[in-house]
Amino acid sequence: MKEIIGVKDLSCILSEKNILNNINLNFEEKKLYTIVGPNGSGKTTLLKHICKILDVNQGDIYIEGKSIGRFSGRDLSKNLSSVPQNTHTNFSYNVFDIVLMGRNPHIGRFQKESKADIEIAEKAMKITGTYDLRNEDIDVLSGGERQRVIIARALTQETPIMLLDEPISQLDIHHQIQIMNILKELVEKFNKTVICVLHDLNIAAQYSDEIILLDKGKVFRKGHPSQVITKEILREVYGMEFHIMENPINSSPLILPYNNI
Ligand SMILES: Nc1ncnc2c1ncn2[C@@H]1O[C@H](COP(=O)(O)OP(=O)(O)O)[C@@H](O)[C@H]1O
Ligand SMILES: [Mg+2]
Repeated sequence: MKEIIGVKDLSCILSEKNILNNINLNFEEKKLYTIVGPNGSGKTTLLKHICKILDVNQGDIYIEGKSIGRFSGRDLSKNLSSVPQNTHTNFSYNVFDIVLMGRNPHIGRFQKESKADIEIAEKAMKITGTYDLRNEDIDVLSGGERQRVIIARALTQETPIMLLDEPISQLDIHHQIQIMNILKELVEKFNKTVICVLHDLNIAAQYSDEIILLDKGKVFRKGHPSQVITKEILREVYGMEFHIMENPINSSPLILPYNNI
């Protein structure tokens, strides 16, 4: 399998705090990765480095073998789309216009979007169940609806890599599963590489090709769900007890947390 992203010796210090500590990771194309770990373990900071919201100061990140520092913003946007953790917007935009913005990296500066661009945006809205919201203002939507609109915009960008920071945290269970199914389909049918921060360990275990478990700014474990989701590893990172069973539907690890009272 071909490496699509390489993170090499990445460290990050913010306000004199060691936020990321010598991270080494490689992501192969056409896989679904989830990043899990306690609050404050550095998940968002890691994603922000990969999508260049934060500059790399120590170490390097390679996209398709090329150092991220050598990508222009526009070139990076053709390779990689991202759905941030907080999708709150300050301006009131129509939903369809927001989704269509995903085409910006593909449209010339003085060019207008084509019929094909509009069709791509409409298709993304149908996939994410946001088509019926297309004429609404983004700021009247619920958190979950807004999240799906931002996912539709990322889909419209048509990039080989998609990064998503807690894309399902605000969604009801139906939309959580729907979005995870879409991400899986993007990997399996459309050959995308998806890297997704999740809190729900059961969903991570069911959907991931590989799980990256961060703890205190370090990679604690990376591997197939069965290698990462063990009660010993989870106890050490989360400081509590877990019972791990086999999921009767698909044999992935099924996690039952409990308090050792
Ligand atoms: N700009 C910043 N300045 C100082 N500390 C920060 C900054 N951004 C994040 N942090 C700290 O870095 C740690 C990791 O944050 P984050 O990457 O958001 O964690 P996670 O997404 O895993 O919850 C936290 O302790 C957070 O307070
Ligand atoms: Mg975060």
